[in-house]
Amino acid sequence: MSNPEQQREHWSGNLGFVLAAAGSAIGLGNIWRFPYVTGEHGGGAFVLVFLVCVAVIGIPVMLCEISLGRHTQRNPVGAFHKLTPSSSTFAHLLGAGMIVAGLFLLVFRDWGWALICLGLGTAVFRYSWRMVGGMGVVAGFLILSFYSVVGGWTIGYVVEMLRVLFTGGAYGQEVFSDAASSGERFVNLVVSPVWSIVNHLVFMALCTGIVYAGVRGGIERAARVLMPLLLILLLALIVRGVSLPGAVEGIRFFLTPDFSQLGTESVLIAMGLAFFSLSLGMGAMITYGSYVERNQNLFTASLAVVGLDVLLALLAGLAIFPAVFAVGMEPTQGPGLVFVLLPTVFIGIPYGALWGLLFFVLLVVAAWTSGISLLEVVTAYFVDERGWTRPRAALTCGGIIAALGILSAVSVDADLTGWSYLGRLQRLITWCFGAAPGSFFDLVENVSSNWLLPLGGMLIALFVGWIWGTRQALEEIRHGSRNFGDVHVVSLLAGLKDDPSHNSPVHVLTLASVWGIFIRFISPLAVLLAFLHTIGWLFAG
Ligand code: TRP
Repeated sequence: MSNPEQQREHWSGNLGFVLAAAGSAIGLGNIWRFPYVTGEHGGGAFVLVFLVCVAVIGIPVMLCEISLGRHTQRNPVGAFHKLTPSSSTFAHLLGAGMIVAGLFLLVFRDWGWALICLGLGTAVFRYSWRMVGGMGVVAGFLILSFYSVVGGWTIGYVVEMLRVLFTGGAYGQEVFSDAASSGERFVNLVVSPVWSIVNHLVFMALCTGIVYAGVRGGIERAARVLMPLLLILLLALIVRGVSLPGAVEGIRFFLTPDFSQLGTESVLIAMGLAFFSLSLGMGAMITYGSYVERNQNLFTASLAVVGLDVLLALLAGLAIFPAVFAVGMEPTQGPGLVFVLLPTVFIGIPYGALWGLLFFVLLVVAAWTSGISLLEVVTAYFVDERGWTRPRAALTCGGIIAALGILSAVSVDADLTGWSYLGRLQRLITWCFGAAPGSFFDLVENVSSNWLLPLGGMLIALFVGWIWGTRQALEEIRHGSRNFGDVHVVSLLAGLKDDPSHNSPVHVLTLASVWGIFIRFISPLAVLLAFLHTIGWLFAG
């Protein structure tokens, strides 16, 4: 059963929360996924779409999640449970509709989709909004399973850098001296099941250990010290990158929007990336928000977390693309981009092995604080809702995710697509859905971050806007943020915020009302349009 509020651990103040939430948001999403996906989708224009998604969807939904969490002091499932009205006709209708659709699909022998419709429909019918929390828990399992594989790669690269260091650079000259041999090294490493699985398991053990020990002692302390260091190192990398000959081409690629490069899927992927990078859409921020005290300013905290996260992503892009072009790599080469590129950059500079070592250690830490937040969501669910003890919940969830992740770890082959060891699974998925594109790794990554997260975010915004109600949400946000939500936007822009003439009792266009309009209409609509566009129902292109 749910923990009473008094027993719940809390962060040690506003800064503690911002740092922990930023620690969740900043991770492989910014430094690994953002650059490689941007590279695949043509650069500048994609970055622009990403930024628009952050502004239009990310900031409003961030505020929704954090205030939901603090108000209910629960995990995502508990939070929806507490605020959901006892019966919802809308949910019944929607659920019934999905079940009917599922039956139709059965007739057409579209087994996989039929199953999904029937299952989801039943869940919606039965649990109504609580289902959104449940979806988040499922997304947490899926995301961490592949996230941890990449986290494992970073651990493996720490070891590579140590090897360079101990051989006095000889090993580095041999394998990382140019992009081609570094690329070969990367492929050799990731296709080795032992290497990927062992590193993945080490990463999972690191995350499980911290979640086992409890939120504050573990998560906060790590984030506090190491995040600023990562920022400094990225700045150093940028300086190095832009001073390489040929770097200008990379800056142009990254910063000049060329919309002809955007594919049909690019918008969805940019949106999914925004959710992924900000840790939104599956209740991670609900869970973290539930450890926030009432006297803290949620509004500024949300802005700070989003700002820091975007800053880190952009800096990572600036550090990587100039160097990509300078060493003559293809920006489109996919998940290996950062792992292939950075060692060659480091090897080329004095004390490169040390710098490289430091960088990959920090990357492990960044990934670690994010992995922890993913595991924390699923653990908090079992602790709060199922009455498990924290150690039991952490170990069980960690174990299941580690097992699932092994499938992703072995699914990577030479060109990073394929199903090397998973032929049976591939046949099963092909039978159900007619195709099994990419690898198992790609599939989990695509389903969870491009579909589940935006869907979850859309439903969270709709829930706060229409069910819980903007007014109740604002009540919650008002605690600790003084009158921030009531500031008149026009007065603010005019620099007249505290002028008596602008504090009229009738508030029209306040910050709060702008937010309300976004979460009720604009953000959900934006997600919906991106979905429709991707499945080809809109501006087919
Ligand atoms: N945001 C993290 C990153 O950028 C990953 C992450 C942590 C995450 N928690 C999440 C992604 C919750 C989605 C949902 O690396």
